[in-house]
Amino acid sequence: MANHLRALVGLFLLTTFLSMVGIAFASSNLVVQGRVYCDTCRAGFETSATEYMEGAKVKLQCRNYTNGAITVTEEGVTDESGTYKIEVSDDHQEETCAVMLLKSSRKDCSEVSEDRNHAPVILTHNVGIASNVRNANSLGFLKDEPLPSCGQLLMQYALGVDD
Ligand SMILES: *[C@@H]1O[C@H](CO)[C@@H](O)[C@H](O)[C@H]1NC(C)=O
Repeated sequence: MANHLRALVGLFLLTTFLSMVGIAFASSNLVVQGRVYCDTCRAGFETSATEYMEGAKVKLQCRNYTNGAITVTEEGVTDESGTYKIEVSDDHQEETCAVMLLKSSRKDCSEVSEDRNHAPVILTHNVGIASNVRNANSLGFLKDEPLPSCGQLLMQYALGVDD
């Protein structure tokens, strides 16, 4: 009987614990995180000469998958490491979401490149990722003139030499 009781109490505690975890999980907002950089070599990808940009503005937007209506618009600004974080409430499983560049904080690096100006993000809890953070690919502006060291640097990349 005592064993029975103990098992029952154990079960009760376990259930309580699990439902608390469930509530915490369901009510936690997702955070979209990513970085903005200045492509100082106009390489089209991040290099060792890439500089991360503070004070750049990005926009997160979600659209209804079916009719294209905008469901979420949130803006974010990068910190000193070029990182932005945008918190989003609710689940957006039935929507397509993406972050895009809005505004550069550098006059010499504000050109938008078509393939690095937006990144898709999946904003649902139902993808088997325990973390609330959803990482987006880095977004980059192009520098007006490539740095003098870029020729050599890009040659190394082309030859597949890691620095
Ligand atoms: C998306 O649009 C469809 C069709 O108008 C609608 O039925 C659905 O509820 C919308 N979904 C969201 C998440 O707004």
